[in-house]
Amino acid sequence: MSGKKFLLLAAACVLLTACEGAQKEDEKTSIRIGVSLYRGDDTFINNIRSVLEEKAKEYERQNNIKVTLDIQDAKGSQNTQNNQVERFISLGCDVLCINPVDRMDASVMIDRAMTAGVPVVFFNRQPVEEDMARWDRLYYIGVDAKETAVLQGQMVVDLYRKRPEDVDLNGDGVVSYVLLEGETSHQDSLIRTEWSIQTLKDGGVPIEKITGGIANWERSQASALMEQWLGAYPDTIELVVSNNDDMALGAIDALDRAGITRMNVIGIDGTTPGLEALENGRMLGTVSANKELYASAIMELAASCALGKELPPEYPLENGTYYWTPQEILVHGTFKENP
Ligand code: BGC
Repeated sequence: MSGKKFLLLAAACVLLTACEGAQKEDEKTSIRIGVSLYRGDDTFINNIRSVLEEKAKEYERQNNIKVTLDIQDAKGSQNTQNNQVERFISLGCDVLCINPVDRMDASVMIDRAMTAGVPVVFFNRQPVEEDMARWDRLYYIGVDAKETAVLQGQMVVDLYRKRPEDVDLNGDGVVSYVLLEGETSHQDSLIRTEWSIQTLKDGGVPIEKITGGIANWERSQASALMEQWLGAYPDTIELVVSNNDDMALGAIDALDRAGITRMNVIGIDGTTPGLEALENGRMLGTVSANKELYASAIMELAASCALGKELPPEYPLENGTYYWTPQEILVHGTFKENP
């Protein structure tokens, strides 16, 4: 065989082997996804979890690929979550979907994933930029906190412009509000608080802060705070601005106990109980992330990592890393006085 012919044959063999490799990736018939939740009892996270489970089944049916979702609850402990990551890797997970407990402390999980070559899709609690920049197989799915906040403020601005008497309930020319804030370390809390209030000011609503406090996203903590405030500032509060629906519902629980029906309460998330409160008029409005898209982005991105396939174009990634879920304002149908 001439030297030229031998070279051609060798090149053909290399090509053939590469194609076989690619075909093997394509032919993968099952994927295993390790999912760790920062707290399984968080209402919003639970909503996303349910939709994610549906999306995994849908993906299985549509693509004829067996999807195993191993979902674990880290119960608020970063240490537990680090161990879960370790276990997922030893079980041979193709990809991890992590809702970090401590978003400032994702480095241990990233180290383990990088060493094992297992890509990670983080969601809802955004790791710091330095961590995200460490590897090109780290992704984040969430909502743009500033956009959420501007939409939350805007719903009150719109109502005030249409019917000021429905916002300035006592007609004294000032809208007195209290503020319920989420965890201090969460990227969403600070930004939501800042931009929601700024939007109210920019939109010309004459607001005055009565008081505020941190209720860590929790209904019971918010309910206790609101009860104190109702006692300390009787007949004063007209608006409750809450960083999420669960705390808004906690405020409504306190209003119910005090027999107060006329006060505007606004939340964020569009959780199942939040939407019920909206429906029956106890909550004025919320900003809802599209949970279908949120969960299918997690599923599609995880599957594309596991199968080595392109991500469908309906999930554009900013800088090849971040997917921002669309969100919308939902308000109680009539804008009428609470029942
Ligand atoms: C949601 C909260 C939730 C928190 C958990 C926030 O984006 O609005 O309801 O408790 O994420 O990380």
